[in-house]
Amino acid sequence: MNIDTAPQIRWTDNQDQPQQARWRSLADYPPPKRIAVVDDTLDADTAYKMACEGTGLLWCGDFHNAKLMMQAMVRRIDSKVLRTKIKANKAGTPIAPPLSMHDAFVQYRKAQALRSRVLGMLLLPFDADHCVPLRRAPDVRPAILQARGPVEEHYVASLRELQGLISAYEWREKGIHVGALKGSVHAHYAVFSPVRGEYVDFVAHAPLPDCLKSSGKAGVAFDIGTGTGVLAAVLARRGVNRVVATDMDPRALTCAAENLEQLKVSSRVELVSANLFPEGLAELIVCNPPWLPGRPTSSLEHAVYDPDSRMLRGFLAGLTAHLAPGGEGWLILSDLAEHLGLRTREELQAWISAAGLVVLSRVDAKPTHARATDTTDPLFKARSAEVTSMWRLAAA
Ligand SMILES: C[S@@+](CC[C@H](N)C(=O)[O-])C[C@H]1O[C@@H](n2cnc3c(N)ncnc32)[C@H](O)[C@@H]1O
Repeated sequence: MNIDTAPQIRWTDNQDQPQQARWRSLADYPPPKRIAVVDDTLDADTAYKMACEGTGLLWCGDFHNAKLMMQAMVRRIDSKVLRTKIKANKAGTPIAPPLSMHDAFVQYRKAQALRSRVLGMLLLPFDADHCVPLRRAPDVRPAILQARGPVEEHYVASLRELQGLISAYEWREKGIHVGALKGSVHAHYAVFSPVRGEYVDFVAHAPLPDCLKSSGKAGVAFDIGTGTGVLAAVLARRGVNRVVATDMDPRALTCAAENLEQLKVSSRVELVSANLFPEGLAELIVCNPPWLPGRPTSSLEHAVYDPDSRMLRGFLAGLTAHLAPGGEGWLILSDLAEHLGLRTREELQAWISAAGLVVLSRVDAKPTHARATDTTDPLFKARSAEVTSMWRLAAA
């Protein structure tokens, strides 16, 4: 029997009766220190103030009104962020210079953190079957069951997380079409989704190393940090006989297993839970590490933010030791971090040289996703200049 390790939270209800329930957060957010039971009679200013002070608002009113309350809180956060921006932009000078991209990014992350902290305070009760026992609540059981699995007791979780679960459920059902696979990949909750097709095409079209082709059935490729398994599937479809794909996130490994099965390549791909490399050598090693150096604010951001570029540097530093003679490493990386002042091109090149690697070639692509052309995005200048590349690396 599995022991439920979710923490217990306690509060007093409107009849002054002590209550308790499990606290559940897939992003691993801690429970609020205080909980107040609230309903439709609460006004948005008071709700916002209480949430900012760290009080969890356990909603017992109408479900749709909880969503309206969330929107009212979003408006209050947005206007606070705007006020902070105006203040930072004025900086005491009559004609203020625009914020540097780095400062704009720091502000953007602060705004994101504020949003998740404050909005995460609007809480809902859930029954043990994941039903929300509130008036006008939709049936959210399939979406939650898919992400959380079965639970044995009623619990409390945030409305914001519920909304994320529902949207992930819909995306997973729909899948992402991957041209190179002539099929779809379905990303599980919190698993990196290959919405940006340009990097998948790099792996689909770059010439395979000669040593991989000549080694026939014995040839091996590694896919480091496989996520949905998309790159491992592309390599298998290209005829690579054996691919070993790693990830540290169990959700990614489960997701990759399903996708590889559904794409009918699972007999060629072995999934391994590992920090970076599996055992042995490979003729080809691909890796698409998180693109931005920085601290993830929750476990949902591990595929995007990499503290101190740990995965990127670990991949480069370990590559030569895991390459078979004549083998190649294919590093997929966007230069967004460079445009945001988080890493320099010189640093990246120094890590490549220090690892005893040379660059055989590089292919670049401009992102085609909608955000790259969204002029209202605070990071538009960086996003519109961004280039995604695949670096073909070999031992010097
Ligand atoms: C940007 S995602 C790329 C996923 C997939 N390869 C793709 O291209 O869509 C990075 C992946 O690396 C995984 N990861 C992060 N650190 C890792 C490590 N030290 N070892 C193995 N995998 C890691 C993450 O869980 C995530 O699935």
